[in-house]
Amino acid sequence: MTFPSPHLSRRQMLAASAAVVVAFSAASCTQAESPTPVPTPAGPAPTPSDPWRPLAHLTAEKNWLNDPNGLVYHDGTYHAFYQYNPQGNSWGNMSWGHSTSKDLVHWEQQPVAMEASPDEEIFSGCIVMDKNNASGLGSAETPPMVALYTSAYGKNGALPQGSQAQSVAFSLDNGTTWQKYQGNPVLNLAPTNNNFRDPKITWYEPGRYWVMATVVADAQVVKLFKSTDLLRWEYLSDFSGVGAQGGLWEVPELLHMDVEDSTAKKWVMLLSINPGGIAGGSGMQYFVGEFDGRRFTAENAAAPGAPLTESQWLDHGADYYAANSISGAPGDKPVLLGWMGNWDYAQDVPTTPWRGSMAIPRELTLVRGAKRLELRSAIAGAARETLDRSGEVKSKNLTVGSSPQDLGQEFRGRTQLIELDMDLKSAREAGVLLRHSSSASETGLRISYNKETGSVRVDRSQAGTSNFSGKFSPFHEVALPSPGNKVHLTILLDSSSVEVFAAGGTAVISDTFFPDWDNTGSSAFSMEGDTDFTVTTRGL
Ligand code: FRU
Repeated sequence: MTFPSPHLSRRQMLAASAAVVVAFSAASCTQAESPTPVPTPAGPAPTPSDPWRPLAHLTAEKNWLNDPNGLVYHDGTYHAFYQYNPQGNSWGNMSWGHSTSKDLVHWEQQPVAMEASPDEEIFSGCIVMDKNNASGLGSAETPPMVALYTSAYGKNGALPQGSQAQSVAFSLDNGTTWQKYQGNPVLNLAPTNNNFRDPKITWYEPGRYWVMATVVADAQVVKLFKSTDLLRWEYLSDFSGVGAQGGLWEVPELLHMDVEDSTAKKWVMLLSINPGGIAGGSGMQYFVGEFDGRRFTAENAAAPGAPLTESQWLDHGADYYAANSISGAPGDKPVLLGWMGNWDYAQDVPTTPWRGSMAIPRELTLVRGAKRLELRSAIAGAARETLDRSGEVKSKNLTVGSSPQDLGQEFRGRTQLIELDMDLKSAREAGVLLRHSSSASETGLRISYNKETGSVRVDRSQAGTSNFSGKFSPFHEVALPSPGNKVHLTILLDSSSVEVFAAGGTAVISDTFFPDWDNTGSSAFSMEGDTDFTVTTRGL
């Protein structure tokens, strides 16, 4: 099976208005009572010469990044490692970059953790704290941080050039410096495989062992293994033959989750697919089911090759990929960090000297949907608390008729956390236009809800620079589970991205876009009738 995508060739190279206010009912502006100040971001801030630098999302100061790897919470600090090219602003020389955060919003870049060599690139993987030093790589006093990563072998590697196997590295200084385990690779396939990668491990309490999920990406197979010492891995089972199949299966993860409002627990398999995602190119599907210590069985899963709408998707935007959970994160819900990118065009986006950013960390809840269990995503607690303490709260109630309504000075901004309530009285469709120019309401990022189709749409086609790639898809849509006249959206707008949470987080759209620096206007619009709006924002 071949996949005509830039991602594959990368892999092959490696394997080698004029606004008339019809009605303006009750307009009010409120300000928050003296918000507790939050620290300013440790990294660079957006400027006219670096206009797309996010303020509330992890980026590297310079150079390329993709998947988050080795996400771990230890001693009050969140560590994010990630696929990073120390030498340039496009994919290559894959190494693990490293950033740390106390609040999941402000990140501080650390020295590169593990650097590529001509023999071995360091592909995606995970980190756990080996608290009991079961690996023997540390001591009882200094338990090691253990990383499982994919060795992608080069010229004089331990395995033939182009092959991929799983390896171990460890740190005895809280993730600052890393040593590779001498017995690497710790897990290989026979025969050696060029697409065997992305280990992510989960503790299986009933059996008291670690379970590793990996993929044979081009065969659309997840392979599970177990270990008690993180070094010796025993094959358990394969998971395949369900859901979307139209591309590489990458970055799997098994999660054990509570079902909300019940005592039941279920297992969830997160799985990235590229291409073949719901919004085109890269996307993340998931499966809910049971895991008996050996085998994961998906329940109510889409048949292989079924229409993509039958699969379950973590996000319906174009830019949410390779998300995995933060090991040891406080709280009883998985906290995920995902890459806000799409292999269809990630290498072409016009940012410099950096390319690639992470999504806002999200916590997952498993809830009963109409037909089956579903994942709900929300901005992770720690991040949400930080965002809620940032900036001033401004709020406005208005009724908009057939002409757009400029929300005014208080709602201008490049980075905002917006809570939007709309009641589509007689309107068919309503929404907000963000990052628009001072005069026109025709350009801008258009976020809308259509009550006839019951769907939320993010349209980035007029939102700024988009000619860098023919594959930069213009808009993305998600159908809400129980559509009605009223809708609530949480919108996190940053310099070059938007994340829209609808239907309590069961419908999410994450998209990048590249607006003009000077365009900071926000308007509300309503089509073919009136809509009541309540808009609350905090400028970050
Ligand atoms: C997913 C992925 C992984 C791989 C890494 C390489 O985006 O292709 O499968 O380990 O990126 O950078």
